Amino acid sequence: MNNSVKFVLDDKIIELDFSRDLKYKPTTTVLNYLRDLSDHKGVKEGCAEGDCGACTVALGELDGNKISYKAVDSCLVFLPMIHGKQIITVENLKNKGELHPVQSAMVECFGSQCGYCTPGFIMSLFALYKNHNNPSKGIVEDALSGNLCRCTGYQFILYSALMACQNDGADHFSEKETQIVKLLKEINKDKKTISLITNNQCYFKPFNLDDALLLRKNYPDAILINGASDIALRQTKNNELLKDIIDLSAIDELKRFEENDDGYYFGSGLSLEALKNYSEKKLKPLYDILKVFGSLQIRNLATIGGNIGSASPIGDTLPVLIAYGAKVILQSAESRRDVSIEEYIKGYRKTDLRKDEIITSVFIPKLNEKSKIKTYKVSKRKDLDISTVSSAFRVSVENEIVKDICMAYGGMAEITKRAKTAETYLLKKKWSRTNIEVAMELIYNEFEPLSDARAESEFRRVAAKNLLMKFFNDLQINNGILKLV
Ligand SMILES: Cc1cc2nc3c(=O)[nH]c(=O)nc-3n(C[C@H](O)[C@H](O)[C@H](O)COP(=O)(O)OP(=O)(O)OC[C@H]3O[C@@H](n4cnc5c(N)ncnc54)[C@H](O)[C@@H]3O)c2cc1C
Ligand code: FES
Ligand code: FES
Repeated sequence: MNNSVKFVLDDKIIELDFSRDLKYKPTTTVLNYLRDLSDHKGVKEGCAEGDCGACTVALGELDGNKISYKAVDSCLVFLPMIHGKQIITVENLKNKGELHPVQSAMVECFGSQCGYCTPGFIMSLFALYKNHNNPSKGIVEDALSGNLCRCTGYQFILYSALMACQNDGADHFSEKETQIVKLLKEINKDKKTISLITNNQCYFKPFNLDDALLLRKNYPDAILINGASDIALRQTKNNELLKDIIDLSAIDELKRFEENDDGYYFGSGLSLEALKNYSEKKLKPLYDILKVFGSLQIRNLATIGGNIGSASPIGDTLPVLIAYGAKVILQSAESRRDVSIEEYIKGYRKTDLRKDEIITSVFIPKLNEKSKIKTYKVSKRKDLDISTVSSAFRVSVENEIVKDICMAYGGMAEITKRAKTAETYLLKKKWSRTNIEVAMELIYNEFEPLSDARAESEFRRVAAKNLLMKFFNDLQINNGILKLV
């Protein structure tokens, strides 16, 4: 049995053997592990829920014979999730007494103020440095969207990023890349399921879909995780003991992307950042919503399968998937089902997933040229905030008459829900401002949303109806043809 988690830290392989009496549990977070070491205390805990970025570290992952670097919130990452990866903290950046270029730039631009947020900012800048040469201001802002500074020092940090990232990312990590690739390959050649069985937890990390489906059959009550950006909070915020876990994050079959004449299959294990990049050219509405999803650190961890799996009423991909008429592909060891996303969501965080099934992919059909889709997210902040109200609209109009319409809302009910009364009203009617104004009132009356810390019920109802007017204004009819503007 494979009982060990292995990763690279400080240029060497670290093995945590859970068959021995370890002081860590399988769900110890990488943040807590690092804080426990005497020489990696730069990483800080601010919130323990992915909101502040003080715990940001970089993960190095094998990409052929190269390493790709991603910034992640270490407070949300369980130790087995870094198996086969390199972990880089702020202590690793200095080389032979010389600061790393991103550290020097922070000094020169007066970007560093306190020791609490700075290590996290530095690690986000490091990942940016390794991934972008001369990034635009937008790319820099996105890279820093998951790091909070409460002293409003952002401008100088932005200057530091623009100053540092003006080359091809060369540094001492590039010099050591071949050596680290060798270590990572050494770890990754063993594809036996990792089984970490302790007194009160069983954590399984399979490396292929067949093994995962078998585990799912044998442990039907185990919690499935992929990015763990939802599930980790049950431990870090609610102190819940996560008993049995099946971690799907190392299964390559779940990270595939395929396009055919009918549409696109996205593996459930694709990170939302990867999905955002795939969708930029061909699925703009999906791209638009992913651009304002969490932060880069969150999108590097979170997956599309996890967003669908959580079935949250404010899950940001759900309205747009409904608008596309997407299907969820569910697989067990014995069979496969393709279920429409609307049928898949059964209630508040309740889904149609059977106890022996895993979401393996999501299918998004290619729509007819005449169908127009657009998504909107209303939140208190643009970055790193969950939706107060979100919506996705799909309409197709012929000779100014509505032939097909779908209006899906998040944040308005216990599930992501369509405004069916307003849809029925608009169908076969003229796509006109007058009719839209009637439909807006129907939307207002169709939902009875909650009041909570994010907004009063009344605010949500007004926002929801106004989003339809925004959609109407964002479309123009030219010679009878609808165009998004
Ligand atoms: C700081 C922060 C910001 C966030 N911002 C947003 C936001 O802007 N918009 C938003 O919608 N969400 C947001 N989230 C919530 C979360 O990141 C998303 O829901 C994310 O998509 C979850 O994906 P995951 O892979 O991390 O899921 P996990 O936590 O691993 O799993 C989530 C759920 O899905 C199930 N699941 C996972 N994979 C599968 C599978 N293959 N088959 C069946 N079930 C599966 C799990 O059992 C669990 O119930 C945020 C979270 C944090 C911590
Ligand atoms: S401690 Fe705040 S994001 Fe991790
Ligand atoms: S400088 Fe650290 S919180 Fe602002």
